[in-house]
Amino acid sequence: MKIAVLGAGHVGPVLARLALAAGHTVTIAGSGDPSRIAMITEFLAPGAVPMSASDAVADADLVVLAIPQHRFPALEPGMFAGKVVVDAMNHWPPAAAPLGTSEEVAARLVGAHVVKALNHIAYQDMEPAGGRAAGVAGDSPGAVRLVAEFLRDIGFDPVPVGPLAAGRHLEPGSPLFGVAAGRPDFENLSTLVKEQS
Ligand SMILES: NC(=O)c1ccc[n+]([C@@H]2O[C@H](COP(=O)([O-])OP(=O)(O)OC[C@H]3O[C@@H](n4cnc5c(N)ncnc54)[C@H](OP(=O)(O)O)[C@@H]3O)[C@@H](O)[C@H]2O)c1
Repeated sequence: MKIAVLGAGHVGPVLARLALAAGHTVTIAGSGDPSRIAMITEFLAPGAVPMSASDAVADADLVVLAIPQHRFPALEPGMFAGKVVVDAMNHWPPAAAPLGTSEEVAARLVGAHVVKALNHIAYQDMEPAGGRAAGVAGDSPGAVRLVAEFLRDIGFDPVPVGPLAAGRHLEPGSPLFGVAAGRPDFENLSTLVKEQS
């Protein structure tokens, strides 16, 4: 697949490396001119192609949002129409927000298929993925399937947790946040969280 990673900070380059290692074509974008991330890309994710966010998204089969949530409004929503978008973001610092980040993302990116994943795993625990459970929440079964396939490719064990609104259970404040565990532990915790909500 062609994967566009938006964000070249802590999370973006790790996901870019994992995707490249799995044989995907990867583009990566920061907030500015691609030349600004050329060196860091060459160093941290050699093989990924630095691009502007709009160019990266235009050609992508899968887009990963690995940017701070408060920077999300800077992205032009129209360019995501029809795209499968992985929201790896969190309200950070943790905030008592009425909606999960992915519900906010889906409300703004009309026409995109938003799936929440990878936000609950610290970047240091992403590589190697080592078969760790990765919670996946989404309203579009096709998009959830595609993201699950991608997660499997890069070494995680995708665990569906429900619709997009259930993605809140993966966010800061939930016992699932920060969990880097195998499927049995993750599923036990997930059941507990659902019972308590
Ligand atoms: N850190 C973790 O362990 C972790 C784990 C899971 C999920 N997350 C979530 O993942 C997201 C990224 O976290 P991080 O720690 O990687 O953040 P970070 O180190 O601060 O990096 C943020 C990156 O996003 C880029 N960016 C900002 N606005 C952008 C835009 N409009 N278009 C494209 N790129 C843009 C920044 O580029 P510029 O330098 O050009 O501004 C920077 O490369 C956050 O929402 C966080 O909650 C973090």
